[in-house]
Amino acid sequence: MHKKKIVLAYSGGLDTSVIIKWLQEKNFEVISFTADIGQGGEIKIAKERAKKFNVKKIFIKNLKNEFIKNYIFPYLRSSFCYENFYLLGTAIARPLIVKELMKIAYFTNSNYVAHGATGKGNDQIRFELGFKYFNSNINIIAPWRIWELNSRNSLLNFCIKNNIKINKKTKKYSIDKNLFHNSYEGGNLDNLLYEPEENMWENTLSNEISIDYPIYISITFKNGDPIKINNTYYNNEYLFLKLNKIGSITGIGRVDIVENRYIGIKSRGCYETPGATIIMFARKNLESFVLDKEIYFFKESLSINYTKLIYNGYWWSPERILIQNIIDNIQKYLNGVIKIKIFKGHISIVKRYSFNSLYDKKNSSFDEISKKFNQIDSQGFININSLRLII
Ligand code: ARG
Repeated sequence: MHKKKIVLAYSGGLDTSVIIKWLQEKNFEVISFTADIGQGGEIKIAKERAKKFNVKKIFIKNLKNEFIKNYIFPYLRSSFCYENFYLLGTAIARPLIVKELMKIAYFTNSNYVAHGATGKGNDQIRFELGFKYFNSNINIIAPWRIWELNSRNSLLNFCIKNNIKINKKTKKYSIDKNLFHNSYEGGNLDNLLYEPEENMWENTLSNEISIDYPIYISITFKNGDPIKINNTYYNNEYLFLKLNKIGSITGIGRVDIVENRYIGIKSRGCYETPGATIIMFARKNLESFVLDKEIYFFKESLSINYTKLIYNGYWWSPERILIQNIIDNIQKYLNGVIKIKIFKGHISIVKRYSFNSLYDKKNSSFDEISKKFNQIDSQGFININSLRLII
């Protein structure tokens, strides 16, 4: 019988490895796609495993630069975290993976696509909204929602039976990695009383052992994006490598939170986002003195929605793009240099400079007199604004 072709979003991890085997047993010809977005050694493992499973078409694509340029940077321009803490490191990668996967489905004439996300999480929604956006006729297989292997333990048993080797940490947590972040979910973390063991964290040192002297760096922004560290220009990838390294040895960017998934389930997640946490801090400080007050608050009010849209899987929606256009429009003011001090999990500001600065010492200083502002006017301002309170 003629086999149906299916393109699988393949990370090489536990779930998607089992899925290859499972789809083959269901008589599909599996085509694997692995996006190289800076997850490191996992790529090689993915390739070897796919070969072992007799996958004939193995696609691996280096998307690191595109990931930073068209996904990470646009998101960081919002200067906003989902629910205050989560920098969307997984959510921001999904739309790119989907876009590239759908190209492969098109060129290989595949009518089916599959992913390894469970029926409980956000990733299924992100993948599938994207798949449908690019091709409304595509058939989607989400094995986790339909198969008999409905727990991590049954997956592990399937691996033992089929001789699939899985490393120790994969057994413990569901991990998602890229050049932006690491995330850890499941296993012991399902228990809110559990403090993660130190060696769960792969990207950052704890404060106990992080370096014991402060690091000073300055970051230069051009139109909202970081371009220089300490007077040296870096390309996107090296900029992240460098900032991740600095954040890593100083213990920056660890979070352990309970978040609201789109479908309404609360879940515990641990994240490490060292480099981007540094960028975010510097950006916020730049925004504070170059953005007009009302633009600042307007952008802030849009950003809550914007991060929710990305989290919920609506990267390709017209409303996300509309807000992005507004956010991008104000980046022309975000030029300047921010100098910071990083020490033991903490970042503090040292110096700020911008030729777009709206800060005027003459206005704010207690020791100077401004030609633009007369203190007597404040009395009338208060009189008028207090009127409704008095009434
Ligand atoms: N909770 C985060 C999110 O929804 C991280 C998901 C991590 N995914 C994973 N397969 N471990 O964006």
